[in-house]
Amino acid sequence: MLPNKVAIDIIRKYMARFEKGEDIENFRKDLIRDLLNHNLLVKTEDGTYTLVSECKEELMHSRIGALRESIEKFVIPSDLRSMKNPKILDLCSGIGYNSIGALHYNKNCRIDMVECCKEVLFLSLCLDMPYEEHNIIKDRIKNFLEGDASRSDINIYLEDGRSAIKKLEGRYNVVFHDAFSPQRDAVLYTVDFLREVYKKMDDDGVLISYSSSIPFRSALVEAGFIISEGNSVGRKRGITIAYKNPSPDRKIRRIPLTDERLIAISTVGVPYRDPNLNLSHEEIIKNRNFERMIFKKKLLELGRYYSTKNVKLGKIDRKFLEIQKLDLNSTQVILKMREILGV
Ligand SMILES: C[S@@+](CC[C@H](N)C(=O)[O-])C[C@H]1O[C@@H](n2cnc3c(N)ncnc32)[C@H](O)[C@@H]1O
Repeated sequence: MLPNKVAIDIIRKYMARFEKGEDIENFRKDLIRDLLNHNLLVKTEDGTYTLVSECKEELMHSRIGALRESIEKFVIPSDLRSMKNPKILDLCSGIGYNSIGALHYNKNCRIDMVECCKEVLFLSLCLDMPYEEHNIIKDRIKNFLEGDASRSDINIYLEDGRSAIKKLEGRYNVVFHDAFSPQRDAVLYTVDFLREVYKKMDDDGVLISYSSSIPFRSALVEAGFIISEGNSVGRKRGITIAYKNPSPDRKIRRIPLTDERLIAISTVGVPYRDPNLNLSHEEIIKNRNFERMIFKKKLLELGRYYSTKNVKLGKIDRKFLEIQKLDLNSTQVILKMREILGV
């Protein structure tokens, strides 16, 4: 899914002036006014701006604050402040809030920004932000849009994350996974894509997502991650923090017990898949529905099917509940429950 089409068309009109060599200062305020008048740009509660997406109900950022969301959901939970020269993958970098926030907290970050919409990158050049690190990102975007393909500490990849991931050098300490919600666009939430991300992470790497979706967390488990939950910001459910190979002394908060059960033994836990990294959202959803049906049939045949309601209430075989009492992380619990389920 992309930002709103009309918004993209408006931005493109102003971008053409930039491409002809006109100074952005001449028109950036007009662009902002134009987007605001069409209700396509929204001022969030911290004063920073967000764009409406293709689906009018979903904004690119939370109304509590575009920059606030980036700091509280991505930058602080990643703990990058304490890292020496963190290497960051900013997936779906958009306007660049997450990269700006990362640099604000640690000026030694090296960042690969991956974004498939040129107009969103350009919009960043026209906005004001309270952090001076915005200028670093703006310079990088401007040079990139002017054709500078050289590599530096901050790099931009203008393409689908699924093709970018294969060519990135990797060894990331932090991955910001900031795609639109999986309910509307599942392409970056599949087991297969997340496996590629996993391969590109350093052993101590951590992936952060605002999404707490069950099939997404299930896909992370299948891709090899140790999943955990962070604080909630502006919504009921907590963010997802997924580690590649956490050190034994790291405190890993478990996801809610109901979520562990849903992922492990219910059809809700069937993840999204995209084996060749080329399916559309609709195809991914259709295939998942089919896989859920087959899984349910198998469970019924084995006499091990539980309704979602009963899984949530814990009205299931005691053996599963006993596993949840063990001193394990959520991924270990889920894998053990699946072992017992035997499907
Ligand atoms: C929820 S917004 C993220 C906001 C962003 N982090 C920021 O600071 O502005 C999702 C972004 O992902 C981009 N996007 C959507 N699908 C993508 C894909 N398959 N690969 C790369 N970028 C994608 C959209 O164009 C949009 O800018």
